[in-house]
Amino acid sequence: MHAHIIHAHPEPGSYNSALMRTAETALAEVGHTVTTSDLYGLGFDPVEKPQHYIRRENPDCFAALAEQRHAWNEGTLPDEVRLEIEKLEKADLVIFQFPLWWHGPPAILKGWMDRVFVSGGLYTSRMRYGTGYFRGKRALLSVTTGAPVHAFGPGSRGGDFDTMLWPLHYSLHYMGFDVLPPYISYGIQGHGYSYEGEDSLRDRLAGNLCDWASYVTHAGSLETLQFPDWDDWDENDQALQAG
Ligand SMILES: Cc1cc2nc3c(=O)[nH]c(=O)nc-3n(C[C@H](O)[C@H](O)[C@H](O)COP(=O)(O)O)c2cc1C
Repeated sequence: MHAHIIHAHPEPGSYNSALMRTAETALAEVGHTVTTSDLYGLGFDPVEKPQHYIRRENPDCFAALAEQRHAWNEGTLPDEVRLEIEKLEKADLVIFQFPLWWHGPPAILKGWMDRVFVSGGLYTSRMRYGTGYFRGKRALLSVTTGAPVHAFGPGSRGGDFDTMLWPLHYSLHYMGFDVLPPYISYGIQGHGYSYEGEDSLRDRLAGNLCDWASYVTHAGSLETLQFPDWDDWDENDQALQAG
């Protein structure tokens, strides 16, 4: 199996970076190959904008969907986008490593999706969900939080992960990926927010790296999340009742 890690954290000494290195090592130890896109390290520009398109379909009015399709067809996608697509195409498993920032992913990861999932190339009206470009590949979110585990859940103060990760999970499903249950590392504290003693925190974080190593090496056999597919809607986009 070949795994590709999209790493979205600005600090090499962070816990997120430790999780990224743990996945690299654990997967390599069981014989898998691993590549990484370190988005901050690459200086990836997450902002979709006219300046990325050297030969515009319509120089007078920028429409991202139309320019993405045109650049795909003309072979003029920005190099940093083309390279990201090539890395995804080679992967059987794509891991997204990031901290929860304002109940969602850091902007650099959201912008990576805006730019790399190219309309007209990697998805079209006929090529999405079960017929998506990346069908047959698996995707896995590895997320860290500042708040402790008991702060999360429906109606909680920290938020409900099914809701907070839905946009990412559903977008990956839209692109054809089989989406695995997320791995969440809770209570990665410090910098003025502390919920437990130093020794307990150190031991818990070390144990969590071991748990993550085990989880990620089983990613090829984990049950995937279930989402509606084409057959679950009628011709008016109304959900069909199960049974
Ligand atoms: C801009 C920003 C927003 C954050 N928003 C949240 C949040 O919504 N929920 C939460 O639990 N932690 C939040 N945090 C805390 C981070 O999730 C936490 O610091 C990170 O997961 C720790 O991992 P790290 O040491 O690798 O950075 C936020 C941190 C920053 C910088």
